[in-house]
Formats: sequence, structure tokens, C-alpha cells
Amino acid sequence: MEDILVVEGLTKTFGGLAAVKEVSFRVRPNIIKAIIGPNGAGKTTLYDLLTGLYRPDGGSAVFMGREILGLPPHRVTALGIARTFQTVRIFPGMTVRENVMVGLHHRTRTGMFASAFRLPRARREESWMWEESLAYLDMVGLEMQADNLAGSLPFGQQRLLEVARALATSPRLVLLDEPAAGLNDYETRELGEVIRRIRDGGVTVLLVEHDMGLVMSISEEVLVLDHGEVIAEGTPEEVRNDPRVIEAYLGAEINEGQRA
Ligand SMILES: Nc1ncnc2c1ncn2[C@@H]1O[C@H](COP(=O)(O)OP(=O)(O)OP(=O)(O)O)[C@@H](O)[C@H]1O
Ligand SMILES: [Mg+2]
Repeated sequence: MEDILVVEGLTKTFGGLAAVKEVSFRVRPNIIKAIIGPNGAGKTTLYDLLTGLYRPDGGSAVFMGREILGLPPHRVTALGIARTFQTVRIFPGMTVRENVMVGLHHRTRTGMFASAFRLPRARREESWMWEESLAYLDMVGLEMQADNLAGSLPFGQQRLLEVARALATSPRLVLLDEPAAGLNDYETRELGEVIRRIRDGGVTVLLVEHDMGLVMSISEEVLVLDHGEVIAEGTPEEVRNDPRVIEAYLGAEINEGQRA
């Protein structure tokens, strides 16, 4: 099958600093591909470029055959890329179900006019959204919490809610930014199952994550960034044993003599 995403020479500089530098990689459909690297490696910036939050200084990103760089975020969403954020972004004062309905809104055709005057199509779409939202909550195990306020959920469940909202836009590719950050071991294992289920449902997953246990157990491929550049790419096993990766994680302060 054709690659779902092809990134070539992607570059973004802030002032003098290249946060993302000549980054190239491909993503096959229906896999979990992890993107790892030390703090400041450029992982979140890469997502911001792919989702239209930043304009790149160079390069291309072709998603399902179409160039996406330069498109505004809502166009990228409509084409089939969804994401979650490193810091949870939900609407705490809305119910869990309403948060998912925000994601569903990307797929309805009813405009503000039809909605405000409760025209028949708007009413049909409302009942569709009501049903559909439960299906996404079910996928992340939050269906029992549908009517609770999002802000009242424990932190780990807020992260899962953000994943459900992303899925509600019906993406072909989902970009997760450190979904396991702040989760305990049990929650992290649950999250791993949810991510596998997403992939098994036909959605390709990019997973930026520091939890190596999670990365190594669920990813088919791993891309490693350091200082904005790709330093390794391969299976979890290949990447784990790559000297450049070990070096990047240990840091330059360890000299040859100290290394076993
Ligand atoms: N808006 C910005 N303005 C200036 N510099 C930025 C901006 N966004 C990111 N950077 C810089 O770009 C580099 C890459 O940052 P980025 O957030 O992409 O890293 P990251 O790999 O996601 O790190 P972490 O694992 O800590 O989340 C860092 O040096 C960061 O300080
Ligand atoms: Mg980041």
C-alpha cells in the first residue's frame, strides 16, 4: 500500500535556531509509528507544522497524495489528520459527551443558520451526534462518564477524552503528543490498548512519547529526532541498539572512558 504520509526536507527555524531541520520520513498506512527524542528535539514543532499551526521554512509533506503544508488547521482536519496536545486541551466546563461533539462538528454540514433555527436537518444531525459521540467514548472506555463535566475527570481520563475528540473528526492519521505523560502504569497500559484499537480500526497513528516501555511495546517503527534532525529510524529493536540514539539519550557529558 502507498505511504499515507511522505515528509521531505521539512525545516522550521525560530530566530537562528533550527527546531526542525531537513526532516524526511515516510509513514505506511495502518501502523503505529513512534517519534522519540530528548526534550527540545523538535517533536511538537513537527506536529505543529503538519497541522498548519506553523508555516515551514522549507520542505514538503504529502498526505494521501496531497501537499498539506501551508493549509490552515481546519483544512488539515477535514483532509483526515487529527491530533492531541502535549498539555491537555479539553473544555472543562462542558460534559464529556459535549467535548466529543466538538470533534463531530467538523463532519456535519449544518451551518449556524440551520442550527440556530433548529431546521429538520439540524435536528437529525443532533441526534446522530448524540449516538455517535457515545461510540467514540466507548472506544476509549469513557462511556460511563458521558454526562459528567470534563473538568471533573481524573487527569488520565482527560487525556483519553482528548483522544476520543480527535477520533470524532474521523481521521485517517492521528498525531498523539505524549499521551502517557502524567499517567500511572495501569493507565499507560490501558492507553496502549486504546492506541492499538485505533490502529486496528484502520487509523494510522504517530506517537510522540517519552515512555519507552509504551513505545517499544506498541510501535511497528520508531523515528528518532535530536536537535531537530532525524538521527535514526527503524524497528524498536534496531533503534534501541543504535549507538547514535544511546548517545543522544545519555548526553554528551559522558565521555568514552566512562562508558562500559
Ligand atoms: N514558538 C517558538 N518560538 C521559539 N522557539 C521555539 C518555539 N517552539 C519551539 N521552539 C524551540 O524549538 C525547539 C524544539 O521544541 P519542541 O517543542 O518541538 O521540542 P519537543 O521535542 O516537543 O520537546 P519536549 O519533549 O520537551 O516536548 C526547542 O529548542 C524549543 O525551545
Ligand atoms: Mg513536545
